Amino acid sequence: MFNILFIIEVVVMTYNGFSTKCVHSGEDGLEYDVVPPIHLSSTFVIKEESQELIYSRLSNPTRDMLEKKVAELESGVASLAFSSGMAAIATVVMSFVSPGEKVLLSEDVYGGTSKLFRDILSQKGYRYQYVDTRDVDKVRESISDDTKMIFIETPSNPMLRISNIRELSELAHEHGLRMVVDNTFASPYIQNPLRMGADIVVHSATKYLGGHSDLIAGVAVFKSLEDYEVVKLHRTRFGGVLSPFDSYLLLRGIKTLGVRMERHCRNAEKLSAFLYEHEKVKEVYYPFHPKFPQYDLARKQMRCGGGMITFRLSNESQEYIDDFLNSLRIIRKAVSLGGVESLITQPYLTTHGGLPDDYKQRLGITRGLIRFSVGIEDVDDLINDLDNALQ
Ligand SMILES: Cc1ncc(COP(=O)(O)O)c(C=O)c1O
Repeated sequence: MFNILFIIEVVVMTYNGFSTKCVHSGEDGLEYDVVPPIHLSSTFVIKEESQELIYSRLSNPTRDMLEKKVAELESGVASLAFSSGMAAIATVVMSFVSPGEKVLLSEDVYGGTSKLFRDILSQKGYRYQYVDTRDVDKVRESISDDTKMIFIETPSNPMLRISNIRELSELAHEHGLRMVVDNTFASPYIQNPLRMGADIVVHSATKYLGGHSDLIAGVAVFKSLEDYEVVKLHRTRFGGVLSPFDSYLLLRGIKTLGVRMERHCRNAEKLSAFLYEHEKVKEVYYPFHPKFPQYDLARKQMRCGGGMITFRLSNESQEYIDDFLNSLRIIRKAVSLGGVESLITQPYLTTHGGLPDDYKQRLGITRGLIRFSVGIEDVDDLINDLDNALQ
């Protein structure tokens, strides 16, 4: 009797709080281990013809646990883990769009996503069009018969533009399009696009999900099992799966996602207020600062402002910028983001370096624009570091 009750309790156990999910979701099946084991086997002994565990490109127990955890965090029915964020994005796009068909892209998506379309997919006949996805009417006007997908990033990289996920999802569905949201900058702690109507969420899990700058990974999360099956088939054929060891690292990183995000947000709010007042800073972009142009939408859609701040220096000479970046002592000059350590970069030369000048000008990615990934260090140390370097 006790055993039956215990089994029932385990089976029906649901986790409500975000951090409880971060720690426990996906790991219910562990009998003795407190920590998920790393299943390194590339292949598994066949005990019955119907078993799903056959070969690790198809399925792997460590990765399966990770996928269940991420699906629960994003309120999806299932998720898939990839060897990088780009592998996730490319596989999702190619699962639903064919050559000759069009994707509408947020104007300032991550440079790598832009280059995937510009350098690879367009050469194979895929069509794409940049749209200012902050403006739902502009997106509506850009839909044509060959459009198959709307792909947005919100907040976007690096301008932190906010797109209205609910309204765009409704628009996408009116026209039978798939709505995909890159939720890398927000993380599932801040917003869950599937709950707002999106069909698929993608992440560079290299960033906040992993949180420690020690792995490259991607995930795609699905609202429907049908979409999941289509993308799973493509992932199996393309082969860009996440390794068992990186799956373990990601499982481990996610356990602290809630507490890390809370701290990232708190630090970033204080730092954005400091930067807004600084005489050497011309402009600041931070979604939860009252002067941010889309402050109201950000407050409606996001749980907190996130850990990314973008700002423009008053002096945009490369000499001053180099001096500033090289004078920082705690904040490191590096292109990635979302880790516990503060990182800073100049998108004009790095993340968006290979893109045409007129594109960068249009978006406001000038030389003096700085993207700051605020870490979880003590905020006063970060303020002092910035202040000294700006002087
Ligand atoms: C918003 C966003 N999406 C996707 C990617 C690509 O992810 P990865 O580098 O893990 O392939 C990045 C990488 O910086 C990113 O910032």
